[in-house]
Amino acid sequence: MIQSSQPDPKVVIALDFPKTQLAYDFAQRLDPKLCRLKVGKELFALGGPQLVEKLIAQGFDVFLDLKYHDIPNTVAMACRAAAEMGVWMVNVHSLGGRKMMEAAKEAVLSASHQPLLIGVTILTSMETEDLAEIGLKGTPKENVLRLAKLAKSSGLDGVVCSAQEASDLRHELGQDFCLVTPGIRPANADVNDQKRIMTPADAISAGSSYLVVGRPITQAQDPLAILNAINASIGI
Ligand code: C5P
Repeated sequence: MIQSSQPDPKVVIALDFPKTQLAYDFAQRLDPKLCRLKVGKELFALGGPQLVEKLIAQGFDVFLDLKYHDIPNTVAMACRAAAEMGVWMVNVHSLGGRKMMEAAKEAVLSASHQPLLIGVTILTSMETEDLAEIGLKGTPKENVLRLAKLAKSSGLDGVVCSAQEASDLRHELGQDFCLVTPGIRPANADVNDQKRIMTPADAISAGSSYLVVGRPITQAQDPLAILNAINASIGI
């Protein structure tokens, strides 16, 4: 099930700010018709549900990026709490396994509002040697594909993945599976610490459903101009 609001912005801005006030001030400069917002662990630790609810009240769809990974009951209850907060998207670690993901899905379905439930596969910071060290054979790409299939068969709506994995995953998992891709950089933007980047237009062509973009927009002199340029480049 792919949820959508009207209109359906593809850019999800990562609100990676060290103070809640900076995040609020930044959101004031944006328009919910042009983008969605991602709240991660740092900002949630600072601002909690109050911050998320405030952003939602301003009309924004919020991706709560807390990457839950725990026993099935705990993850299920956390996902249900996130759903009741009114978020548009929430995520769990696929490495928590089928029982955990199925419990998360069931919990979300029983909530009064159903966010998209997305799986994190392999963190993009991990390479083949890191996987071997924790007992996972094969390359990150092989593990991503296996875990994305597991996420789909456990009832999840999609996965977070690198845009460079998007075309394979789109091919393997079909059109209805949601692919959320960070590591997006407009052609002339600073790469920062991202390793495997792709432009917004290439990512959409490769099969991305939503583009997570942080610093190219949050650190721009004119964030709205960059957002508008990205939207124009993907035909929005
Ligand atoms: O600033 P930048 O565009 O690099 O931000 C990307 C956002 O996506 C950050 O919030 C980062 O934590 C998140 N992310 C990522 N790579 C992943 C998963 C999440 O960059 N594999």
